[in-house]
Amino acid sequence: MTSRKPIRKAVFPVAGLGTRFLPATKAIPKEMLPIVDRPLIQYAVDEAREAGIEQMIFVTGRGKSAIEDHFDIAYELEVTMTQRGKDLSVLGPTRLMPGNCAYVRQQEPLGLGHAIWCARDIIGDEPFAILLPDELMHGRPGCLAQMVEAYDQVGGNLVSVLEVPREDVSSYGVIAPGAEVSASLTEVTGLVEKPAAADAPSNKIISGRYILQSEVMRTLEDQEKGAGGEIQLTDAMARMIGTQPFHAVTFAGRRFDCGSKAGFVEATLALALEREDLGAEVRAMAERELGRST
Ligand code: G1P
Repeated sequence: MTSRKPIRKAVFPVAGLGTRFLPATKAIPKEMLPIVDRPLIQYAVDEAREAGIEQMIFVTGRGKSAIEDHFDIAYELEVTMTQRGKDLSVLGPTRLMPGNCAYVRQQEPLGLGHAIWCARDIIGDEPFAILLPDELMHGRPGCLAQMVEAYDQVGGNLVSVLEVPREDVSSYGVIAPGAEVSASLTEVTGLVEKPAAADAPSNKIISGRYILQSEVMRTLEDQEKGAGGEIQLTDAMARMIGTQPFHAVTFAGRRFDCGSKAGFVEATLALALEREDLGAEVRAMAERELGRST
């Protein structure tokens, strides 16, 4: 038995404009773009649910109401489908329990740290998770479930990490690794947001999953602007190192960067190839396409 407070709440920052995917994202949120037949946000919510999260908190912005509709009952659709004898189970994952889903708005795009801080009143004094939906983490158990398991061991704060080529680190938050607890769990002694490759403390980047203590909200309160002129979550976390345990979990699974077009296509292909109902057909198509381009 552990006396640690369980991780019951997760924050999903979804206020970004998604300009990299224009014109697709002119009228629909980037998080609603589908990988095969599930919107990107659904993968993150399913991952959170699998890890035991009960309350989903979305930090949204203008033009994001499709996300709220997605996690609501589509009354007319369900009535019509029922009348036609269609199976409604496909909608199951879009159902969140009454009251277990909250939306707060980030009015201005002031950075990830600011977006998280917008959820402070709903978080209260509980530890919580953060999932960046652009990062599609694919594995069994899911990335957050693996982190919750590590949290049960070491408590405190955790980030998920993975290794990238050194020249790529400047797009990410980077950890300074300390002592190894196990093959997949390392202490964190420092954090830097978007360092130049030459200044980076390692090539281990934060891959968009966090378990944090509520004190981070108070740290964010007076956080100065950092990389890109934005209030950075990484900077606030860095200030907590030394006052609370801080660890990094190396995810055993695959990560797709769905914030980039190529990563989005890669995720679509990889997940389609794995599907029982589609895999063989998509493989044959992919092989035909590759044959054509050579
Ligand atoms: C954010 C975080 C960064 C992290 C990255 C993962 O950056 O600030 O630390 O490594 O997500 O995708 P952004 O992609 O918002 O610039």
